[in-house]
Amino acid sequence: MEQITVQKVGDVTSSVEVSGAKNSVLPLICASVMFEKCTFSNVPQLTDVKKLLEILSDDLDMTFQNGTELNINSNSIPKKVSLNSPRNSEIRYSTLLMGALLGKGCTHITIPKSGGCSSFGERPIDIHLDGFVELGFTVSDSESSTIISGEIFKGDKRIKLRFPSVGATINLIFASLQTKHSITIENVAIEPEIIDLISYLNKRGSNIKISDRVISVSNTETFGLEVTHRVINDRIEALSYIVLSVVSKSSSLIKKVPYIYMEQPLRFLKSLGVELELKNKDGSVSDVRVKRFIPVEGQEPRLETGVYPKIGTDYQPVIAPLMLYTGGTIVDEIYPLRFKYLEELKQLGVEVDIEVGKATITKWTIKSTDNITMNTYDLRSGFFNVIIGSNFSKVCTIKNAGQVFRGYENLESKLNCYGIQLSR
Ligand code: EPZ
Repeated sequence: MEQITVQKVGDVTSSVEVSGAKNSVLPLICASVMFEKCTFSNVPQLTDVKKLLEILSDDLDMTFQNGTELNINSNSIPKKVSLNSPRNSEIRYSTLLMGALLGKGCTHITIPKSGGCSSFGERPIDIHLDGFVELGFTVSDSESSTIISGEIFKGDKRIKLRFPSVGATINLIFASLQTKHSITIENVAIEPEIIDLISYLNKRGSNIKISDRVISVSNTETFGLEVTHRVINDRIEALSYIVLSVVSKSSSLIKKVPYIYMEQPLRFLKSLGVELELKNKDGSVSDVRVKRFIPVEGQEPRLETGVYPKIGTDYQPVIAPLMLYTGGTIVDEIYPLRFKYLEELKQLGVEVDIEVGKATITKWTIKSTDNITMNTYDLRSGFFNVIIGSNFSKVCTIKNAGQVFRGYENLESKLNCYGIQLSR
C-alpha cells in the first residue's frame, strides 16, 4: 500500500486549476467501445483512467494515445466478449462496459465482479442488472462474474429504476442504443456528468432526450459521427481545493471551477461562514477566491447528502474539515457506512460520534500537533487526510495513499501552490 507524507513547508504561492472530471471521463471512455474512433480533450491523468484504458487494450484489443488529447481506436470487437483483465477487479467503472458493449451490439458479455471504493459498504449492481432484464437481455449473476446475453426488446419499451443510480442510468442508456426503437427510462440520475455524456452521444448521432428524471433513448442511422469532446471539469476536485484554501487561509485563485454544477455545496459552505468571490466567469466555469471564513456561531450545521442536485455523497469527506471550526452533523443516506475516515480525527483530540448513516463532529479548538499518521479508506477521504494532515500536524504520514491519486490529477504540483510538500 502506497504511503506518502504531507507537510507545510512554505507560504501559499499561486493559483491552482481544476482538471477534467474523473466521473465524466470514465463513462466517456466506456462509450468509446461503440465507435471506431474517439477523441477527448481535458482528460485528467489519473490512475483510474489508466486502468480503464488498460482494460480496453487487454480485453478488447483497442488502442489509445493519451497525450494532450486522448485518442481511442476500436478495431473489431466480437459479438461474444469476456473481460478478464485483472484491472477489472481494481476499478468499479468497468461495470459500464456491460451497457456499452450491448449498445455496440454484442450478444454475450462476461464481466468479473468490479472493484473500486468498498470501504463504505457494498457496491451492488442489482439496479443495472434488473434494467438489462427489463430491456429483454438475459442476466446470470454468480459470486465471481456476471453474464449478459441476448438482444434488446424489439419495439418501444418503458422501464423505471427503483433508485436514481448514476452507474445504472449510464449503463442502461448505453444498452438502449442497441435499438432504433424508443426506450424510456424513468427515475434516472441527472448528475452533470450524465448530462454531458448524453450531449456527447447526441453529437455522435444518437437521439436522447431528458426531462425531469425521464430519459428517452433511441439510436439513428447516423450514429458514429466523428467529434472531439472536451471533458467537463471536476466539481468534487474543485470543492476539495476550495476547502483546502479555506483551511490553509489561502486567497489564491482556484481556476475553472464548474460552479454551475455546484449550487448546493457552495450554498452549504456559505452557511458555514465561508465567503467566496467568483470572477472571470466563462460559460460553466469561473475562477473562485476565498475572501474570508468567519465560522458560524450558535447553530448546529447539518450536511445531508442526496442525489443530484442535492449535495453528493462524494462531497462529505471534503466538507468535513470545515466542521472542525463550527461543529456539525453529516447525514449520508447514499453510503451510510462512509464515515470511517472521521476516526482519524480522534488522534487530534477531536470528539466524533459515528453511527450508521450519521456522524457528529464537536467544535474543536484549532491547534497543530506533532507528527500523525492517517489511514485512507477511499478516494475522497484521501483528500480529507491531505487537508487535515498538512494544516494540523507538522508532518503527516498518509497510508493507502494510492486512493487519492485515483481522482486528483497533478496532486504534488497543486499542493506545492499551497506551500505543501508531498513526498512519496
Ligand atoms: C457514482 O458511483 C460515483 N462514481 C461515485 O463516486 C459516487 O459516490 C456515486 O455515483 C453516488 O453519487 C463514479 O461516477 C465513477 P450509484 P455509482 O449507483 O454509480 C446503491 C468515486 O470514487 N445502488 O449512484 O456506483 C448504492 O449502493 C465514487 O468518485 C444499488 O443499491 O453510484 C448507493 O447506495 C465514490 N444498486 C446508491 O445506490 C445498484 O445497482 C448510489 O449508487 C446501484 C447502486
